[in-house]
Amino acid sequence: MAERGLPDKRRPADKVRGMTWLITGGAGFIGAHVAEAMARAGERVVVFDDMSTGDPRRIPRGVPVVSGSVLDREALDSALRDHAVTGIVHTAAKKQVGESVEKPFLYYRENVRGLQTLLEATVDAGIERFVLSSSAAVYGLPDVDLVTEETPCAPLSPYGETKLAGEWLVRSVGRAHGIGTASLRYFNVAGAAAPELADTGVFNIVPMVFERLTAGEAPRIFGDDYATPDGTCVRDYIHVSDLAAAHLAAARRLAEGGPETELTLNIGRGEGVSVREMVDLIREVTGHTGAAPEVGPRRPGDPARVVASSEAARKELGWSAELGVREMVESAWEGWCLRHPEARR
Ligand SMILES: NC(=O)c1ccc[n+]([C@@H]2O[C@H](COP(=O)([O-])OP(=O)(O)OC[C@H]3O[C@@H](n4cnc5c(N)ncnc54)[C@H](O)[C@@H]3O)[C@@H](O)[C@H]2O)c1
Repeated sequence: MAERGLPDKRRPADKVRGMTWLITGGAGFIGAHVAEAMARAGERVVVFDDMSTGDPRRIPRGVPVVSGSVLDREALDSALRDHAVTGIVHTAAKKQVGESVEKPFLYYRENVRGLQTLLEATVDAGIERFVLSSSAAVYGLPDVDLVTEETPCAPLSPYGETKLAGEWLVRSVGRAHGIGTASLRYFNVAGAAAPELADTGVFNIVPMVFERLTAGEAPRIFGDDYATPDGTCVRDYIHVSDLAAAHLAAARRLAEGGPETELTLNIGRGEGVSVREMVDLIREVTGHTGAAPEVGPRRPGDPARVVASSEAARKELGWSAELGVREMVESAWEGWCLRHPEARR
């Protein structure tokens, strides 16, 4: 059956080649990796970013950049028109859980109203493919061995709420306006494809431990009395290069599928790694083996175990992660040392 707006005999590969993807947040940690992976795979990409937490030096050479906010409808309309955009990968957002508790208006404005503005522009431009960056934060405190996409969502923070509300909005608009959609729920993202693409924030375990070790301090473990094999929390870590490959696979799946395609997928490795295992690995990789980890009390709201079932992504996208935790720590460390040369032993 012919899809809307495409001649009958056009094959999926032609459709994919004919796409131009707008990557919002493409100067950010994840968006830049997505832009790089998609451009390298031969997709036409354009970055749209307000540079609030992004760095233009991350954007791959040759990729056009539009500076603007997803809250700015005029800037969006011009970008979509000027670059003849046919698909969106929306990574732009605010992402700090703690900050979202302090500033819920900011998070709802940027992550929900910004998304709505982008979706309105998407619909008016007749664009039929949309990929959303979501998060495992939508699940809250899941009490299951492996988190599937059917595990109930109960976000614990305004940040997680905005991600879940964003998924609902994308799904409703996709159904009402004939847009193929994919919401990708990332688990714990780490690593870098190249040192200059590394995450510059210190919001998760890998850079937090790097920071302590660089300062000559012992890494911290928050609680070792959880019901897990070594008593510390267990998480599912995914290399950002694998995550970028998942976006490419999702974009191609949407391009090949019809506007009725609707996907919500966990993007993880399906393997649990404990905080203690991660800290020990970081100490080994960095050579900062002196100070043994300090165990402190639990942090409120930390679930014992959050590990993805990655079956649905494998089945729907033919994608699964290839890189392990060691590659994540090694590549993240190279990125850290680029900005903190004093850290290297
Ligand atoms: N990093 C993680 O561990 C993680 C985990 C789960 C989900 N996510 C999601 O992935 C996405 C990207 O996260 P990241 O780690 O790359 O964050 P980041 O802060 O490095 O990148 C976000 C990018 O979006 C841009 N941006 C922010 N607000 C904007 C706006 N209003 N208009 C245009 N551009 C705007 C920023 O300048 C930045 O370049 C976010 O949606 C985040 O919620 C991240």
